[in-house]
Amino acid sequence: MDNTNNVSNINKKKIILSGIQPSGNLNIGTYFGAIKNWVNLQNDYINYFCVVDMHAITVRQEPAQLRRRSLEVAATYIACGIDPGICTLFIQSHVPAHAQLSWVLSCYSMFGELSRMTQFKEKSEQHTDNINAGLFTYPVLMAADILIYNAHLVPVGADQKQHLELARDIAVRFNSVYGDVFTIPEPYIPKDGAKIYSLQEPDKKMSKSDSANENSSVFIMDKKDDIIRKFKRAVTDSEAEVRFAGGKDGINNLMSIYSCATGKNFDETEKEFAGRGYGDFKLAVGEAVAEVLAPIQKRFYELMDNKDVLEKILRDGADKAAYAANKTLSKVYKKIGFLQI
Ligand code: TYM
Repeated sequence: MDNTNNVSNINKKKIILSGIQPSGNLNIGTYFGAIKNWVNLQNDYINYFCVVDMHAITVRQEPAQLRRRSLEVAATYIACGIDPGICTLFIQSHVPAHAQLSWVLSCYSMFGELSRMTQFKEKSEQHTDNINAGLFTYPVLMAADILIYNAHLVPVGADQKQHLELARDIAVRFNSVYGDVFTIPEPYIPKDGAKIYSLQEPDKKMSKSDSANENSSVFIMDKKDDIIRKFKRAVTDSEAEVRFAGGKDGINNLMSIYSCATGKNFDETEKEFAGRGYGDFKLAVGEAVAEVLAPIQKRFYELMDNKDVLEKILRDGADKAAYAANKTLSKVYKKIGFLQI
């Protein structure tokens, strides 16, 4: 275990924070767009990774399922290679300071800017019967998650860029009134895998809460046969040439996934599949993805068989996170004039 979060390094290293909602089974978009990059960055930063259960309840969740998924998402982080020895892993609701800071920040967030968030617009369209206030203020809680640890870098997929920009705006606004309270965070959006698209509708994001068509998403825990079948059924185009180009959303998406899974660039892939049909290519993508996921799945099931160990990691993580978060919160409370006795 690399104990790089120790005192001698703590002053030199910058801080990362990121999180995932336990609102559905995690798919390869979440892996390639987010978790894989956390793993690659973790040795060079002080790391906070949380399971954002408070964000998940902006859409109705079944309580037992939310509990189970929260633990599964934490296990998935570790199974994907997040090292709890150097990363603080925790469940968002276990650190109440996030909600406390979120309230303060909501008083520094404007109705107009929240109304412009595309995720809010999309989710309001999907859940017309439940356009709740939490859905609207969701990005403020996300800003609190980030700013409370003074994170420098936030590794996320491209869909979270707008929320990140809002977090920066809120931080700048707050700092302009009270001095340098918050670090202004930067997004880290990967070159490959920033947006993995649905296999059935390759102009739409692959989404973990999309249950309409089970062939749209490849889940991290899918069995090899299912992975191959889903890729075989992936929507492509009427050509037969594996080539990254306009009008070939399906093939472009498969090429991106192949690149994420194998490290091969588009030129290499085009050469590898020159003169071969889409069938061969789809099979190769499926096999490459299955190969990446196999060791993750094995570790996941081992971890889920050791829930006590997992819970201890999360309890320790919440303690460490709360310590750092409370420091920022009390600074904020002082700055804004809350009476301290
Ligand atoms: P969430 O739970 O929707 O997604 C988790 C992470 O996975 C990325 N992602 C994708 N990347 C590429 N292609 C895809 N198809 C794909 N689907 C998901 C997301 O960009 C994200 O990085 N609001 C956040 C959770 C959050 C958060 C935070 C993130 C709450 N607080 C603080 C960072 C920092 C969300 O809904 O992610």
